[in-house]
Amino acid sequence: MTSSADRFWDERYSQPGYLYGTEPNAFLRGQAWRFPATGAALSVADGEGRNGVFLAESGLAVTTVDGAAVGVEKARALARQRGVDLRAEHADLFAWDWPEAAFDLAVSIFLHLPEPQRQLLHRHLVRALKPGGLLLLQAYRPDQIGRGTGGPPDRALTYTADLLSADFAGLQRIELLEGEAWIEEGSGHRGMSAVIQLVARKPG
Ligand SMILES: C[S@@+](CC[C@H](N)C(=O)[O-])C[C@H]1O[C@@H](n2cnc3c(N)ncnc32)[C@H](O)[C@@H]1O
Repeated sequence: MTSSADRFWDERYSQPGYLYGTEPNAFLRGQAWRFPATGAALSVADGEGRNGVFLAESGLAVTTVDGAAVGVEKARALARQRGVDLRAEHADLFAWDWPEAAFDLAVSIFLHLPEPQRQLLHRHLVRALKPGGLLLLQAYRPDQIGRGTGGPPDRALTYTADLLSADFAGLQRIELLEGEAWIEEGSGHRGMSAVIQLVARKPG
């Protein structure tokens, strides 16, 4: 069944071009040196596929999940165009059959959920990682509200260091940074932005 959230995203992804561009998120690109040389990666809420395709180009076997059918079709098209394999699944992350201890790398870029869905999603991510697996997450902080450069309109959907520390208390924290970044990703994200980014590893 299609939810109003899926319809919202499908409508946005139905516009010509790629809303956040076809290049990967800059934080994800900057963390590429930490990627395993081979292995399985999961990118949740991958939208039109720019990040999943980049992970696949990095030599990983990539699964992406997104609830917006139009986004998933565009992700598959981008993978074909770039000549990489991408397992792009169209599913609600809360109905998806999450594999356990299956991924060497899990990525969440600009997925903004209210509590308690946020906590549940983050528990799923931790369980889906293999021991020793790496988590990479970037999201907007509360200071982003009102800037008009991207992100959710509602403060309750933004993430803080306290929230992420609590959600991922079971992981070994490598970096948890709050700051300002110039973000230029298609027409969807453009300008100075208040972001938070987490790099963490599941104990081996
Ligand atoms: C801001 S976009 C980010 C897309 C992508 N991560 C990127 O950075 O290009 C948020 C995405 O989350 C997806 N999403 C939100 N809630 C979801 C859910 N419960 N299940 C699957 N996808 C979801 C939307 O469909 C949308 O594609």
